[in-house]
This record gives sequence, structure tokens and C-alpha cells, in this order.
Amino acid sequence: MDRRQFLNNLSTATVASIAGGATLSAKADALEEAMSVELDKRIATPWLCNIEPMPTEVAGDTRPWYQHEDPRLPEMPKAPTLRDFYKLRFAPANHVLQSARYAQMNGMEEKVIMACLLHDISVENLIRTDHGYWCAQMVRPYVDEEVAWAIEAHQALRFFPDESVGYEYPDAYIRFFGADYQPEPYIFDAWEKAKNHRWYMTSRLITLNDLYSFEEGVEVDIDDFEDIIGRNFRQPAEGLGFDGSPVAHMWRSIIWPNNFL
Ligand SMILES: [Fe+2]
Ligand SMILES: [Fe+2]
Repeated sequence: MDRRQFLNNLSTATVASIAGGATLSAKADALEEAMSVELDKRIATPWLCNIEPMPTEVAGDTRPWYQHEDPRLPEMPKAPTLRDFYKLRFAPANHVLQSARYAQMNGMEEKVIMACLLHDISVENLIRTDHGYWCAQMVRPYVDEEVAWAIEAHQALRFFPDESVGYEYPDAYIRFFGADYQPEPYIFDAWEKAKNHRWYMTSRLITLNDLYSFEEGVEVDIDDFEDIIGRNFRQPAEGLGFDGSPVAHMWRSIIWPNNFL
């Protein structure tokens, strides 16, 4: 931490609390508290599917750590299906469900609807950073490669307008990242590779149905997509997480997000 910069940026309230310490030691404590708050703010811990950083105690559960049975979460079946994840772990999953509904209302092909349904599932349930890549990897063994490719590319495509379909740079990104924000070079590279790819439009359609997918008061149920999932998602008989696939551990991490190891 740059101490000079830190001290210059202290809020009036923090300065008052440090100055108000009755003894030198009380002043030092107040300063330390301010520094630790500042550090917490600046150092982002990757949010890897934890539902809380420190699990709160559950009455009657004397185990020091959760390992497999977490009393705060609904129990998952032994061989969970994609539907079980939406119902028992992802719920309410409004964003992806509404995106898929919007794609359906717009008359999109099933593979686009399927891609919309899956496009952000890591964000609330596993990890946010580089979410297009994580989401694509999670589903790649179970969907057509085109769907996985489109999900991966949507992360980059979100940053690049496409007038041909009326896709504009999201206003939300200006609010989130500032008007001068430039994506990292790897996002430009991904855009370069995607824009002439034969599956470009599948990914572009995710971004198009993504943009307007937050609607207050609209409730969409995963069962509305039962047939589409049945035709477009190869559910492993052993259950997601237990089929020995290269991504099974990702699904298990969502089943048991608070396992000690
Ligand atoms: Fe996304
Ligand atoms: Fe999205």
C-alpha cells in the first residue's frame, strides 16, 4: 500500500476516528482498522462458488468444517441433472432463464435458446471472472461444439457493437467500467478470431438476447425448456459431476461449494 496516497485519501470520518483516539495506542488501533478496511476493498478474493466467505454456524451442527453435507443448501440427488442444478443450486437464475425466454420469443433456433440458457451459469454459481470461458468449459462435453463456442465468444462480443443486428455497446459497461474502458488485448484477439467465424452469429445472438433480458416480475421456470434441454444437452447417466468428464469437478464444486477440501 502507498502510505502517502492512503493517508491523503482517508475520509473525514476516518481521520476523525483516528484523531479522536484517547491514547497513542487507541489512535494506532484506529489507523490499523482503517488500513485493513482499505486492503479488504482492494484485494479481491476470487469468488469461487462460496456462498459465504465464513460459513455462519448452524444450530446443532458441531462440525468445524462442512464436508459434503451442508445443512444450508438443498440436498442434491445422487445423479443430478441439469434441471436439478437450476432448481437446487442456480435458482432463481433469472438472468439466464429470461435470456432464453427472450430468445424463444424472438423465434431463435433451439441451439441459440440453449446457449442463452447456459451462457452465464458460472457467474452466480462458480466464478465471475472470465465467465464466458468458464461457462463454455463447463458445458462443452454435453452440448454441440457450436453452442460451447458461442458461449465462450459471447464474453468478447459483448464489447463490440454490430450494427447489422442492432447490437450496441452496453450502457451498463460505461457505468461499470467507465467511458474510457478498453478491454484487454486477449478480448480483442478473441473478437478478431470470432468476427469471421462460421458460428459468429450464434454467439452474437446470445449478446443480443442478453442485453434486454432483465424484466421485472417475469418468472420463467427451467421446466419451460424441458424439451429443448432434452434435445440439446447430453445428460450423463451418472449425473453431472460424476461422469468422469474433464469438467466433472466444476459441477461437484457447485454441489458442495463449502467443502473444506
Ligand atoms: Fe455473459
Ligand atoms: Fe448474460
